[in-house]
Formats: sequence, structure tokens, C-alpha cells
Amino acid sequence: MSYKNYQEAFDLSFNNRDKFWGEAAEKITWYKKWNKVLDDSRAPYFYSWFEGGELNTCYNAIDRHVEAGRGEQFAIIYDSPITGTIKKITYKELQNNVAKFAGVLKSFGVNKGDRVIIYMPMIPETLFGMLACARIGAVHSVVFGGFAPNELAVRINDAKPKIILSASCGLEGKKVIEYKPLLDKAIEIAKYKPEKCIIYQRPQAKASMIDGRDFDWNSSFEKATAAGCVPVKATDPLYILYTSGTTGIPKGVVRDNGGHAVALRWSLEYIYDIKPGDVYWAASDVGWVVGHSYIVYAPLLTGCTTIVYEGKPIGTPDAGAFWRVISEHNVKVLFTAPTALRAIKKEDPKGEFIKKYDLSNFKALFLAGERLDPDTYYWAGELLKKPVIDHWWQTETGWAIAGNCAGIELLPIKAGSPTKPIPGYDVRIVNSDNQEVPNGQEGIVVVKLPLPPGCLPTLWENDQKFIESYLSPFPGYYFTGDGGYKDNDGYVYIMGRVDDIINVAGHRLSTGGMEEVIAKHPDVAECAVVGVHDQLKGEVPIGFYVLKAGVNRDSKDIDKELVSMIRNEIGALACFKQASNIKRLPKTRSGKILRGTIRKIANGEEYKVPSTIDDPAILDEITVALKNMGYANKK
Ligand code: COA
Ligand code: AMP
Repeated sequence: MSYKNYQEAFDLSFNNRDKFWGEAAEKITWYKKWNKVLDDSRAPYFYSWFEGGELNTCYNAIDRHVEAGRGEQFAIIYDSPITGTIKKITYKELQNNVAKFAGVLKSFGVNKGDRVIIYMPMIPETLFGMLACARIGAVHSVVFGGFAPNELAVRINDAKPKIILSASCGLEGKKVIEYKPLLDKAIEIAKYKPEKCIIYQRPQAKASMIDGRDFDWNSSFEKATAAGCVPVKATDPLYILYTSGTTGIPKGVVRDNGGHAVALRWSLEYIYDIKPGDVYWAASDVGWVVGHSYIVYAPLLTGCTTIVYEGKPIGTPDAGAFWRVISEHNVKVLFTAPTALRAIKKEDPKGEFIKKYDLSNFKALFLAGERLDPDTYYWAGELLKKPVIDHWWQTETGWAIAGNCAGIELLPIKAGSPTKPIPGYDVRIVNSDNQEVPNGQEGIVVVKLPLPPGCLPTLWENDQKFIESYLSPFPGYYFTGDGGYKDNDGYVYIMGRVDDIINVAGHRLSTGGMEEVIAKHPDVAECAVVGVHDQLKGEVPIGFYVLKAGVNRDSKDIDKELVSMIRNEIGALACFKQASNIKRLPKTRSGKILRGTIRKIANGEEYKVPSTIDDPAILDEITVALKNMGYANKK
């Protein structure tokens, strides 16, 4: 397929949807061809792609490349500045590892449709585990290593995994994070108990094993016999990835096999301009959707080399780490989060490290995960002298909703905008009455149904919540949870979430979930958590709480207890560092907490005292508390 320009591709994706996606699906190898490209017989809520088709995602990501002569090409480059390791794995070696690990899973009784939770760091074995699940039709659910035991337990209860794959530790800069005690604690808290755990022992920490439940990765591997790829239906689930909703219960986003393979294969070529054989690097973590789609599946489905980087943008060892990896491994495209660039910019504002490396093969920098602030955009563009491309998407969609399709036609970039809707996504801006608003006017960003292939067909065993969360709020549309607008040229601008979700260093978190944790403190009567602007991390959460009558402890102690509760129950990644006691929370007369007003005061933005506020004087107290926390300075 080749498209004359962006507009032609966009139009075709709607005017002849079956031709557009049917052609894209030809790039995937199928055991059985689909009956229908799009099955809308269960509209307006449920749509399925490539109904009747059968394939195997692992076969498409590995075996077919070996069969086509790519066996000696590197599939994975594991680069760990923390351990001083660079390990290159060919497609043939990847096939051997994954087939054998699939054999391990089978020997542990894992069958098609069974769930496997993966709680592991950024090492190649994590990818072996994911791909081995795909090989035998099991459903993986990767949980980000930074989550605390309670968060892991919630996911265990929902996914009900037959087994869990984990490692003795993760490495965070100079810190060794022992995973096994966290896993043990999670299994202890969880109501559902997995039968077995397979633990990869790393030299930096030795996990103690529970007899009969825990098994050593390497010795199980040695005993196993390789397993082949099992055909699955296009509509069968490949994985579940939990993401923050507006409460403490995360949503289990389901990804199918067929639509996912087709959409990701298409996206790498036409959005990122990547061809088979290129080296592609998503500097994220396999625990996030970016890691699933662009560390693992899209590059491997395309026959590329993917980088598995176990390090940080700074401090491992310096702010030149990203440029070193790009130049050393011939990376064509880097995809990361703006927060990583802001960290580099802070340490190396003049880009001295950039000058030290040969970046001549590097073609473009793609950013997502949070709004790309114009400062960071200009800084990166001026120093790198390469296109810096913002694109907007979310865990639910699995690939970009709006972006600049570098593989079709690079449209002029406007700072602050992720450019235009990607073919397949009919993005609209509506008001709260579900009426479209004129260009330039801010509203709620929705996508007209059906969503393109690759997007969530439903939530894990919860069709009702899927409908309630995404489809009922704006009938006929998928509700993205973001606010924004379109300009007269059709460029999309994403201004931030309209719900209680915040983005901390590109990590999606729920302020509602944090409030649920704080509310468990025996001395707290009620609380509010809001995300406030942070120069490095984009947003960080801060909390306000009201004490129960009769409590007269020093609130400084309670502040600290709340900070450690969030750290222990959600994880350090929440970056919840400050809480403050106040007499009352600002509320409307009907009792709604004015979180938006607190946020505006904190960020030094103009705000109107809402006419419905029950007691305007409380805003003065909030302002003082915010100033003490280092916020509320007028811009
Ligand atoms: N396992 C265990 N703990 C983890 C972890 C993991 N996988 N990831 C983060 N943490 C911990 C950190 O150690 C830190 O703990 P601390 O409070 O004890 O210091 C805390 O969670 C916060 O981590 P982080 O937000 O990563 O902050 P940082 O100060 O260590 O690093 C950045 C700041 C900007 C360099 C870093 O956040 C970054 O690289 N961000 C890019 C994010 C990204 O790729 N997002 C994916 C979407 S594309
Ligand atoms: P996640 O599901 O963790 O990928 O987070 C998705 C959310 O991150 C989106 O709903 C947006 O709020 C935000 N986001 C992601 N990419 C962008 C972007 N390029 N611009 C603005 N916000 C973004």
C-alpha cells in the first residue's frame, strides 16, 4: 500500500474501511483468513475486527522472520548501563528462547486462555515471557515493577493468573529493588492465589523461594522442550493491561490478537516511517502500554531490532545516555516521554552531550504520554535538528489517535499540537450535551465509533464497566477522558484530562485511588488529592485532609504517615510527597469538592470563586497551605 498523502489515507480509512484495513492485514500471516474485516453486528457497543480469522502473534513477531531469512538479524539489543551489559539476541536465538519458555509454561499446566501475570524488570527474559504466552495462546498481564504489593494484588484478583513470572530484583539507578518480597506480600494479600511462580534470579539479589510454589526460571528452562505456535482467533485476547481509572480499581484493558497485529504493523511503517531491518527504540518500560506496543510487538511484528534499555535518561551514567544508545546501536527512531527530555534538558541545557555522539542515522524523535510543552519541543528540535513529533494516545487505544504520519507525509508541525487524527480515528470535540463545538472551542475529545483495529474491544470480564466508562457518557462516541480542541486546519490540541487521572512523569495515576488510600487513615475524616504542575514530572499529586473531631495529634506526623501510606499501597512512582491538614475542604453547596479550583490556585492560574461554593473563606486557607508547600505563586 502506498498513499499519495495523509488526506488520501485518512479518507480511505473511512470511505473504504474494509479495503484500507484488509490491505493492512495482508502484512500479517494468517492461518485462516477472516470472514469480515469489521463485524458490527453487536453495535453500538461492541465491534470486532477480522472476525473468523486465525493467526498467532508470536509466529508473526518471530518465526516468520526466521523463515523469511532474518534469523541472523538482531531482534533485541539489551542495553543496561546499570549493570554494564550489552547483549544482542538474533531472531533465531529469540525463537529458541521463546519456544523453550513456552514449553516451560506448558509444563506448568498453562493452556490457551489461561492468564499469566508478569512482574518483571527491563530484561530480555520479560519479553521471552510475554511472547511465550502469545505462542501458546495464554493471556499475559504485565504489571509495572514500580507498583506496590497492594496494586499487584488487585490485579491478581481480577486476572486470576494460573502462574506469575517474576525476577529477584529490578534496578533503579543505584537502587536494587527486591521484587520477591513484594510478590510474596501481594500473593498474601490477594484473595485469588496463583498456583505457581517462576522466578528469574538476577545476580544483584537472590530471591528466597517457597517450596512447592516457586520455581527457578533457569532450571525450569533447561528441562523444557520447545513448544510451537498455536492458532488463536483474531478476536481472542492477547493480553490484559491494567490502567488507572478514576477510582482505586484499575481497568483491565483487553487487547485482541488480530486487530492488534494489523494496527501495530501498520503504525510502525506509516506513523514512525520504520521498515523491516531498522533499529527502533521506545525508551519506556514493558509495564506500560508504550512498552507493550513499541518495545515488544510493533518492532518485532515488523522484523526490526528493538532496544530493551535498563537505565534512566540521566544518571546512568549521565545526560548523554540516550544519545549514546542512539549512536551505538544505529537507532533510527526514538520514542520517549517529554518528562525524560525535561530531565536531560535540566542537566544539559546546552546539549553538550548531544554534540559528542554521531546521530547521523537518527531520523526522528517521537514523544507521547503527556502534553509536549512547547519549551521542550523547541529545545529538542533546535539541538537535535531532527523532527520532534508529538503524538497522542492512551492505554485503551494501544497506538496513536493523533499524530504526524512520517511514513506517509510529514505535515507542518505546530508546537502544542500532536497534529491530526491518525487514519482510522474520527476525532470530534463535543460539549457536555454531546453536541459538536466549533473549531477553536475547547470541549471533550471523543472518537466516533467504531474505533480502528488494535483498540480495546472491552474490559476484562467487565463489559458493563466498558460501556459505562467509555461509551455511555457520549452516545455514538468513545470517550477519551481528555479535553481539547481542533483548529481551523484540523489540528488537534489535547489540554489535559477531564477526570481524576493525572500523569506523573508519563505514568498514569488516579487521584481518586490515592484518596481511597488516605481515607483509610484512622484520623482522617475526608480528603482531596489533586495533580499540580511540576517542572520535571509534568504533574505531581498533593493531598489535603480534614481530621476527625477529637483528634489532636501533631498533623506533621499525620502528613508523613499519609505519604508513606501512598508509597506502600500504590508505589514510589506516585511521587506523593506532600499532604496538608486543613479545617475544611472547599466544596460546592451540594458537597462536591472543588478540586479544579485547588489545582488552579496551586498552579498560579486565574480562577473564579465558584458561585456555588459553600464558604469562600476556605480558599484563603487553601492558598496559605499551598504556599507553604511551594505552590500558588502567581504566574
Ligand atoms: N521499580 C521500582 N521503583 C520504581 C520503578 C520501577 N520500575 N520506576 C520508578 N520507581 C521509583 C523510583 O525509584 C522513585 O523512587 P524514590 O521516590 O524512592 O526515588 C519513584 O518511583 C519515582 O520514580 P520516577 O518517576 O522514575 O522518578 P525519578 O526521579 O527516579 O526519575 C525521570 C525521573 C524523569 C528521569 C523518570 O521519571 C523517567 O525516565 N521518566 C520517563 C517515563 C517514561 O518512560 N514513561 C513511559 C511512558 S512513555
Ligand atoms: P496512558 O494510558 O498512560 O498512556 O495515558 C493516556 C493519557 O496521557 C491520555 O489520555 C492523555 O491525557 C495523556 N497523553 C498521552 N499522550 C499525550 C500527548 N501527546 N499530549 C497530551 N496528552 C497526552
